[in-house]
Amino acid sequence: MEKVGIMGFLEEKSILVTGATGFLGKLFVEKVLRVQPNVRRLYLLLRASDTLAAAERLWNEVLGKDLFRVLKEQHGEGFHSFISSKLIPVAGDVGEEGLGVETSSLREALQSEIHVIVNSAATTRFDERYDVALRTNTFGAKHVMDFSKKCPKLEMLLHVSTAYVSGEKTGMIFEKPFCMGETLNGLSVLSIEEECSVVSRRLKELDAAKSTKMEERVAMRKLGMQRAKTFGWPNTYVFTKAMGEMLISQVTGNLPIAIVRPAMVSTTCKEPFPGWIEGCRTFDSLIIAYAKGNLSSVFANPRAIMDTVPGDLVINAMISIMVYQLCQRHHLVYHVGSSSRNPLTFGMLADYVYHYFLANPPRRKDGRQIIQARGVTFYRSKMQFNLRVKLPFYLVCKGLNLANIASFHSITSTNNNLKRVFKYLMRMAELYEPFAFFKGTFDTQNTERVREATVEGCPDGKTFDFDVSNIDWEDYLVSTHIPGLLRYELK
Ligand SMILES: NC(=O)c1ccc[n+]([C@@H]2O[C@H](COP(=O)([O-])OP(=O)(O)OC[C@H]3O[C@@H](n4cnc5c(N)ncnc54)[C@H](OP(=O)(O)O)[C@@H]3O)[C@@H](O)[C@H]2O)c1
Repeated sequence: MEKVGIMGFLEEKSILVTGATGFLGKLFVEKVLRVQPNVRRLYLLLRASDTLAAAERLWNEVLGKDLFRVLKEQHGEGFHSFISSKLIPVAGDVGEEGLGVETSSLREALQSEIHVIVNSAATTRFDERYDVALRTNTFGAKHVMDFSKKCPKLEMLLHVSTAYVSGEKTGMIFEKPFCMGETLNGLSVLSIEEECSVVSRRLKELDAAKSTKMEERVAMRKLGMQRAKTFGWPNTYVFTKAMGEMLISQVTGNLPIAIVRPAMVSTTCKEPFPGWIEGCRTFDSLIIAYAKGNLSSVFANPRAIMDTVPGDLVINAMISIMVYQLCQRHHLVYHVGSSSRNPLTFGMLADYVYHYFLANPPRRKDGRQIIQARGVTFYRSKMQFNLRVKLPFYLVCKGLNLANIASFHSITSTNNNLKRVFKYLMRMAELYEPFAFFKGTFDTQNTERVREATVEGCPDGKTFDFDVSNIDWEDYLVSTHIPGLLRYELK
């Protein structure tokens, strides 16, 4: 590792990346191309009908993003030819065997060339339809692993999971792989085959009942949440990601595998420039709601730690882990989080957000101020939330319903809107409660060993540093994250 360094490892490598249209996938592709232009090729598996459609997605949804502006400046007029020689779009789908790669000849050609696979594809919606989440997050992982077994030159399969596969565990959460069939509540034994049967049975029932597409979607989402909770996970996303890990760790054999579990990923702190983000994730939806003047209270414990890591540091960690794991192969699981070394709490976040908007009040296009910044109220327990929010809202809904009946349905649309808002609010409270009251700390000993070995042991280790202990959260949130979020998500 010392001799070749990380850059040396990447040189002349062919890397298959799934999930490249996503937030982390794009960051990975950009970083590799920027720091190691001598990488051989990056094959990007994109969901598309054919290669042409995949190429269109690559240019519009990946390279078309502001994230690539530094790389464009670096290559100037040669950008197009550089990209064409390095990035190969491949139409595929991780939910299918063989990754849905169209022809067996293309699949075999790929398999004979690939040195590294980065599996970043996932459906990240917390209450995704169970069939979709199982197909992508659980069987997607298996299909990637089966594919990698057929790559004779494979040096590393890096599977991206999430730290929150731990569910609502408390205390120190270690970087420990799952055993097949393990559950979080220890009550039942989990069988992935049985979960597939549960899905098929439910789909058949819905079909027999001639359910509409909408009814089917609602039922499948409900099923995912039910199954997750049966085994102790708070939502379908983390449950299906955990099962994906089980399938991967079961068949490691001689395969060089690493499972990386990032916590919540936030805007880039440095590279390629500070403040880039895509997608409004977990606590970001609170910041956006506040900026729009729609948030005066939150259902969270101000002392709960919201483990977050800037996206560029997550990518540096992923690349370093890849190289380290190749040489050491001691561990399988790596947490990438900040809670053990530099914790940020919901209370701190609320404070920084308030001060940011006090100094920079958000304005409409016509210059009018949207909100007067105010501190937010925390509902620190379910009881408090139910008494102060749920019950009054429920009573207002009931009252309006009666008024609607009494007025011969003259306020039906207001009535329906309020019901919709109420339902949405309760759904959000249910989905975010496990994060807002999280009592765990992610241990990062394995990941820290990688950092020590690469940053201190590799000549180019600093290019891939991912030290979270030096982040000044106030400065990062106020100068980088909130402005980035407003620029890229609120636009
Ligand atoms: N962002 C975070 O805060 C965070 C935190 C912890 C862990 N993670 C993990 O990091 C990984 C990347 O997350 P992200 O934030 O980048 O997610 P994202 O922005 O939602 O992107 C997901 C990517 O997966 C692709 N995908 C979905 N289903 C697919 C399928 N069946 N076949 C092929 N590709 C498929 C999507 O492609 P389409 O464009 O076709 O939909 C997209 O490119 C995930 O494994 C996630 O669990 C993320």
